[in-house]
Amino acid sequence: MKKFFSVEDVLNVSDLIREAINLKKNPYCFQHFGKNKTIGLVFFNPSLRTRISCQKAAFNLGCNTWVLDIHQDSWKIEMSNGSVMKNTQEHLKEAISVLSTYCDILAVRTFPNLLDKNEDYQEVIFNKILNYSKVPVVNMESSTLHPLQSLADVMTIAEIRPFSAKKKCKVVLSWAPHINPLPHSVANSLSQWVSKIEEIDFLITCPEKYDLCKKFSDGISTLHNQNEAFLNADFIYAKNWSSYINYGKILCSSSSWMITEKKMKLTNQAKFMHCLPVRRNMVVEDAVLDSQNSVVLQQAENRIYAAQIIFLKILQSLS
Ligand code: CP
Repeated sequence: MKKFFSVEDVLNVSDLIREAINLKKNPYCFQHFGKNKTIGLVFFNPSLRTRISCQKAAFNLGCNTWVLDIHQDSWKIEMSNGSVMKNTQEHLKEAISVLSTYCDILAVRTFPNLLDKNEDYQEVIFNKILNYSKVPVVNMESSTLHPLQSLADVMTIAEIRPFSAKKKCKVVLSWAPHINPLPHSVANSLSQWVSKIEEIDFLITCPEKYDLCKKFSDGISTLHNQNEAFLNADFIYAKNWSSYINYGKILCSSSSWMITEKKMKLTNQAKFMHCLPVRRNMVVEDAVLDSQNSVVLQQAENRIYAAQIIFLKILQSLS
């Protein structure tokens, strides 16, 4: 693997999930690939899970890491080309080029601005990073995608319900309310990954005008009736996202979309999933998040092995 931007960089998703699950059972068996290798982690936005799970994944592989929180620890970075840099001190071009000489793999997180749909959906910033880096780049969440999260998510589903063509499992991605306009990356990415897995019946439920971009959700059923969508579901994946159609806007804040115990009773004793961080009693009731059926911690733990299998694939391609 030469880079990891999205699921499109993966040859076979089912094989990758299997390998990640095996890695979890024996996490230190590939340490020779990480000897004298360094993974750089660059954050343009905050993180808890991604940051620490990637460090742990690198440690498991015997790699060194360094971490840079751009807004906290660095110069103010200029993203646009051709501008007179009156208010910024360093251009993204030099920053990424230099940082990439300090590591063997460069992992980067950038969020969308949620103002300019074209800029976000063309992944203008991440494409510049891919272009400026002299080493393989890993997407730790970009404007439109969060592939390490999705790999951990499908791995979690496979651990709980090993894929079977005879009995497909029903996974429902449900929009849930939030007070801030949030990116689409988790929802887009999950849609993209599960579309590659035949053994999953996937559907999305969200309010009107919250349909996801067709680029990622083409061919996926979207229901605007949450109760109907929940019927016989095996997994409920809750996530908020801002509107794609009215780009970046909050058009619904109704608590009627919150995930509740009552709604979970409509399902086939579904497992509850969320990528975290989650706002309790806004996105999901305490009773659901704290229930036996909540697998959010398993998802979070699997972030280690999702990152580890991707770093390993890239390290193997370097050797
Ligand atoms: N789920 C996730 O990416 O969490 P962080 O934003 O804390 O990294």
